[in-house]
Amino acid sequence: MSRHTPRASELTLEQKAALLSGGGFWSSAEIAEAGIRAAVLTDGPHGVRRQMQGTDHLGQLHSEPATCFPLAVAVGSSWNTDVAARIGSALAVEARALGVDVLLGPGVNIKRSPLGGRNFEYFSEDPRLTGELAGAYVRALQAGGVGASLKHFAANDQETDRMVVSADVDERTLREVHLAAFERVISTANPETVMCSYNRINGVYASENHWLLTEVLREEWGYDGLVVSDWGAVRDRTVSLQAGLDLAMPGPGNTYTEDVLSAVRAGTLDEAIVDRSAQRVLDVASRQRQEHTEFDVDAHHALARELATECAVLLRNEHGVLPVAAGTSILVVGEFAVEPRFQGGGSSHVNATQVDQPLAWIEAHAVARGCEIRFERGFDSAREDESLVSTAAEAAQTAHLAIIFAGNPESEESEGFDRTRLELAPAQVRLIREVAAVAPRTVVVLANGGVVSLEGWHDDVDAILEGFLLGQGGGHAIADLLFGVASPSGRLAESIPMRREDTPSYLTFPGEQGHVRYGEGVMVGYRHYETVGVATRYPFGHGLEYSTFSSADLDVVVTGPDTATARVTVTNTGGVAGKHVVQLYVATDAGPVLRPARQLAAFTKVDLAAGESSRVTLELDRSAFAYWDIDLHRFAVAGGTYRVQLAEHSSSIVSEHVVALEGDVAMASLSLQSTVGEWAAHPVVGNLVSQVLATLLANAESTVQPNSESGELPEVIGLMPMIQLIGVSGGALNVDDLLLLANSDSPS
Ligand code: GLC
Repeated sequence: MSRHTPRASELTLEQKAALLSGGGFWSSAEIAEAGIRAAVLTDGPHGVRRQMQGTDHLGQLHSEPATCFPLAVAVGSSWNTDVAARIGSALAVEARALGVDVLLGPGVNIKRSPLGGRNFEYFSEDPRLTGELAGAYVRALQAGGVGASLKHFAANDQETDRMVVSADVDERTLREVHLAAFERVISTANPETVMCSYNRINGVYASENHWLLTEVLREEWGYDGLVVSDWGAVRDRTVSLQAGLDLAMPGPGNTYTEDVLSAVRAGTLDEAIVDRSAQRVLDVASRQRQEHTEFDVDAHHALARELATECAVLLRNEHGVLPVAAGTSILVVGEFAVEPRFQGGGSSHVNATQVDQPLAWIEAHAVARGCEIRFERGFDSAREDESLVSTAAEAAQTAHLAIIFAGNPESEESEGFDRTRLELAPAQVRLIREVAAVAPRTVVVLANGGVVSLEGWHDDVDAILEGFLLGQGGGHAIADLLFGVASPSGRLAESIPMRREDTPSYLTFPGEQGHVRYGEGVMVGYRHYETVGVATRYPFGHGLEYSTFSSADLDVVVTGPDTATARVTVTNTGGVAGKHVVQLYVATDAGPVLRPARQLAAFTKVDLAAGESSRVTLELDRSAFAYWDIDLHRFAVAGGTYRVQLAEHSSSIVSEHVVALEGDVAMASLSLQSTVGEWAAHPVVGNLVSQVLATLLANAESTVQPNSESGELPEVIGLMPMIQLIGVSGGALNVDDLLLLANSDSPS
């Protein structure tokens, strides 16, 4: 029976103030006398971390058993919104069974450096891929009765100094990259809560950032849910309330409530603000949610495995060494084959209900295929032991195929610190090289939360299967992929660079003296590599399959001033069923800003039987063409031509179709800082400006004159700011009239 929950306006000031801070480490405040229950908020995002006794926000203490699903890094590699949605749905059942109202996830921060310590909790270097997958997760989670908490808002893209560092980000970069995924999820999935981050953005703490939490999130994006702090992120409770932060976590035991009461009584805090935030807490606490008393542990485990097979990325497969052929004599090497690496450290750490061991499942498949099998540990992440390497190398002499499990130990990838090394541990590199030097064929299976460098051993091995962190079913999934029980279909959601120095954030990550400057601007990941022509080891969107596919007959129809519809025919031209990711990018020079060589515009994953074809439709919405205009302070689509590119990955274009869009910004607004050339090129005032200029130059018997045929201005004049020319024009140019005329038809 649903209890009547009072409105905030029916409560006393003391009761309202109490609602604005946690009542416990994982709960909002209960106000029994008013019939207000406490809402439970706990981690996510890839498994429920429900703590009934000891509490911590770093994943050190016990939590109730729950399913550890593929992590965001893996879901990002699936390029499949269904994978994200199915995880969201299953998590909702588990969360409700464990009494959770809000699950703290998904994380949609952007991987501006491969060294980001929590990259395993984030989806991609691309905001569109991130936003689409996270949106599917949120819709499914909330359809199951559990609120999401979209985090960490915003620009929390590193762990170094995360509680104090200021992310110094220009307006366009924030909008097009670091806020874009948040905006997409909020507009398509309306998460019940948004979690503000610890860090500062351009010098102002997110928890106190009125521009971020109110002007952008609420006034511009229309968000009306609850804003909750990251745990311990609130500094001044009154300032944070005024900025738009509704619920300070964790509780209890802080002075926040007293601070609020004092501020209201002193007249420095408007009680209406208290009412508004208290009502948002009440809305979450009083929401009627599905009740579950338990969840099907085995079914969820099987689901975790099934979804994991869609996430792993087959990077390399020379000589068709995979899938493993029947009768192969196999040597399995590496501690991760027996003690699998399947999740990261920190608040997302799940007490998994069970964990599949890769070796056990490889043995099961091997036996069924008449394959001999042997295991050697090869390395021990806890201690150096050279003998392990030599023993493994010796064993490799009598095998047809060596399968080496490598990657980063959990101790190196966690919330709270960033990685300092892009490469695998030297002991692992040595092991790979020594085994590969002996074994006829070598496969490396990787388990790592952020991309690792493959240099120094890549050419020594025949195949590389990048598993990232696949959750508790990953061991079985990897075995299924190795033996062809499942076909790989993952694609890189993060570029794998050749060198750390090649990465766009190399010179600025993780910052200095309390500041990290996003010097790469919008050129994050593949946008950088493709624009400046830096080769990667494997590009964004790369991934191999066991079958072969063709994508053809791209057709793009303009459906409005800033939208289009694309159609592509995909055919499975190989001998086995498989899934293929269709990737569309947009390339353009339109607009007054430098655009990346291309940007992901739309994607979809198709499941095709051998020989089957499908014609798929992909909608290109306005955001596929828009840039953020810092004069207009909004997204704009410049009139002009746009190349819609069908691609195998960000570096391989299959075909393209050029469309012309009317856009909504025929011209950039002119100002006195605009160049003379921009004024002369303006469709309305350009001729007048050019005529006056020609006269001025002629009368001055200037050594530089417009081109006698084209009338084009000499560069030395064209690149001058108009304000400089006015100074020497002797009043020949009435700028006020020109500005009025030039910008009269630019949208406001
Ligand atoms: C942590 C994390 C956040 C998590 C919260 C609660 O510090 O930054 O992602 O949800 O605290 O554990």
